[in-house]
Amino acid sequence: METKLLSAGPQAIEEAARLLRAGEIVGIPTETVYGLAADATNSAAVKKIFEAKGRPQDNPLIVHISRLEELSEVVREVPPQALRLAEAYWPGPLTIIMKKSAAIPAETCAGLDTVAVRMPSHPVAREIIRACGLPLAAPSANLSGLPSPTTAQHTFRDLNGRVPLIVDGGPCAVGVESTVITVAGDHPTLLRPGYITKEQLESALGEEVALSSAILNKLADGEVAASPGMKYKHYSPRADVVILKGDFDAYRRYLESHPQEGAYAMCYEGEENRLPLPCIPCGRADDPASQAHALFAALRQADDLGAKIVYAHCPAQDGLSMAVYNRLIRAAAFQVIEL
Ligand code: TXA
Ligand code: MG
Repeated sequence: METKLLSAGPQAIEEAARLLRAGEIVGIPTETVYGLAADATNSAAVKKIFEAKGRPQDNPLIVHISRLEELSEVVREVPPQALRLAEAYWPGPLTIIMKKSAAIPAETCAGLDTVAVRMPSHPVAREIIRACGLPLAAPSANLSGLPSPTTAQHTFRDLNGRVPLIVDGGPCAVGVESTVITVAGDHPTLLRPGYITKEQLESALGEEVALSSAILNKLADGEVAASPGMKYKHYSPRADVVILKGDFDAYRRYLESHPQEGAYAMCYEGEENRLPLPCIPCGRADDPASQAHALFAALRQADDLGAKIVYAHCPAQDGLSMAVYNRLIRAAAFQVIEL
């Protein structure tokens, strides 16, 4: 299959909508990461997403809508907590899990009775949803296991030959996937940290949000993940990623005393000339949003450079840093060295 890469504009949006209505899959920009979209109500179209990505069948997809009125078509009921969250943070990088409606086939939700819904804020994503008139199932547009794509070029590299069209809407502003919260159970629970923080969710809800144990820790053998995506090795470049936990001087001393061929260091801006290894800059030390924005591109850059091992600073675990930590610790397959 030939893969077209079109710059976002009326023609690209019309072509995307035509393909989506015909049951095809299309790479689209969102404010978080690029998504691989299909008609969420069409099980044959949704199956193509799983095939193109090589995604495990038991990992459910997120359904994207462009207007609040579309929510009642995809969920059985809208709990008051979901409305509060939607009012505060939609359109934007927040996914809310609710009981699914009959319009959403089992394939979209991997057989669960719940559905994850998000209203993206990226104007191109919104126009595509509006133009095709369908709720769109869209996971991140990477091959399963690789870092999520934050540019159309990353998406093209992973999906060239597997999808008919990728729409280029420029680099993604946020850079990590949406925050995922469930309000389908007894207590609101954060399943995946993202740009919208636990504190922000609590302030909109007026109640405490529980933290799924899989966010910061490795699942124990046999433990069932509340969010199936959390159990897979994820976001990994080919290089081994190792997180070093300590201050800048301890980081530098460790790298100096462990010379290794093919080793690179992820670093914060301004540290490039103060470390004994070739560096891959990844945001600013005091600015977790800039780290989130740069993380996946930095991991992909490590592979482009042929890195065998990549060291990284250990991010904090609160606020937006929780999202950066959550992605990095998976890329590192939970290898952390305390300095
Ligand atoms: O920012 C995003 O959310 C991007 C863009 C494209 O919108 N999409 C994305 O999708 O990150 P994906 O498939 O890579 O991640 C979806 C996550 C997975 O961890 C999955 O297990 C979880 O959401 N999920 C989806 N439906 C669920 C459900 N019904 N219950 C629990 N977890 C669910
Ligand atoms: Mg993904």
